[in-house]
Amino acid sequence: MLTSGGDCQALNATMRGVAKSLYKMYDDVEIIGFEDGYKGLMYADYHVLKSSDFSGILTKGGTILGTSRQPFKAMRVPDENGLDKVEAMKHTYRKLKLECLVVLGGNGSQKTANLLREEGLNIVSLPKTIDNDLYGTDVTFGFQSAINVATDAIDCIHTTAASHGRVFIVEVMGHKVGWLTLYAGIAGGADIILLPEIPYDMNVIVNALKERNRQGKRFSILAVAEGAISKEDAALSKKELKEKKKSGVIYPSVAYEIGARITEETGQEVRVTVPGHTQRGGEPCPYDRVLSTRLGAAAAELIRDKKYGYMVVVDNDEIKAAPLAEVSGKLKVVDPDSEIIRHAKMVGISFGDE
Ligand code: F6P
Repeated sequence: MLTSGGDCQALNATMRGVAKSLYKMYDDVEIIGFEDGYKGLMYADYHVLKSSDFSGILTKGGTILGTSRQPFKAMRVPDENGLDKVEAMKHTYRKLKLECLVVLGGNGSQKTANLLREEGLNIVSLPKTIDNDLYGTDVTFGFQSAINVATDAIDCIHTTAASHGRVFIVEVMGHKVGWLTLYAGIAGGADIILLPEIPYDMNVIVNALKERNRQGKRFSILAVAEGAISKEDAALSKKELKEKKKSGVIYPSVAYEIGARITEETGQEVRVTVPGHTQRGGEPCPYDRVLSTRLGAAAAELIRDKKYGYMVVVDNDEIKAAPLAEVSGKLKVVDPDSEIIRHAKMVGISFGDE
């Protein structure tokens, strides 16, 4: 078993779900934990886990195994000592005579899981990420807990915003997608929500802020995804965008850039808050504890049935298995024409697009 990529709140809860189910199914099951994700499999850093290792961890954030980022695109690149990483992982797997490798990971980790499947390893994977961007599952574990943290941040900003009459921007994680910002933004009552999937127009944002001022509203709150992008930048090629960024003012992140533009255009005082990695921290929320338990137990069923090469997923509140070959490497993005966006717009939230 290994946990790979950025951590999240419900990794331990999920491993517990897998392990407790397996220990109940078999008297002689042995679970090996690889340290720091795929790195542990590459360099044979592991330890045999005991059933007591899985007790008391349902509510514990982080991962008892440790994790690291091992980019998929570098998997075929030998390490600094010339080690073939894929061969090394296969070697460890075979040497330990593993029946199956259980991978808890996000997008890149699922791609590596699929690569190892193609290389002949028995894989069962579980969908982890606060970004909720894994294709093939309605929801990933960690997402709801991160929504809670990001929403708390917006809630806290609300009270101070009301006192000061300023524009506040809360920058929300999510990598290239806007799920976390969308949900936390709606839950936190943000006035403007900016997502990578809906490129924004600065004039629209400025007009929305001015309109709030006209209505006598003392403050405005923007929930901005870390991957938010303007319409003009979205129209550029990757290369052109890189050149543009190099030649202009360098901001710490997109929220600061938007903040500076707002002050420029409206003269309003802007404050930026970046909750950052707190969004992956703390304990899993009850929803995630339940989800992780269900996903973990379902992964154990796949192992029992020797149904390998699958990621356990949520489909309309049912736990199912999706072939890694079909789901890995695909991103699940927010559909700008979806019902949730339409409903958010109906209550007056601006997405900076129209
Ligand atoms: O994928 C989870 C995530 O928290 C993203 O939302 C964020 O962009 C990224 O990881 C941050 O990565 P790191 O922890 O490596 O800085």
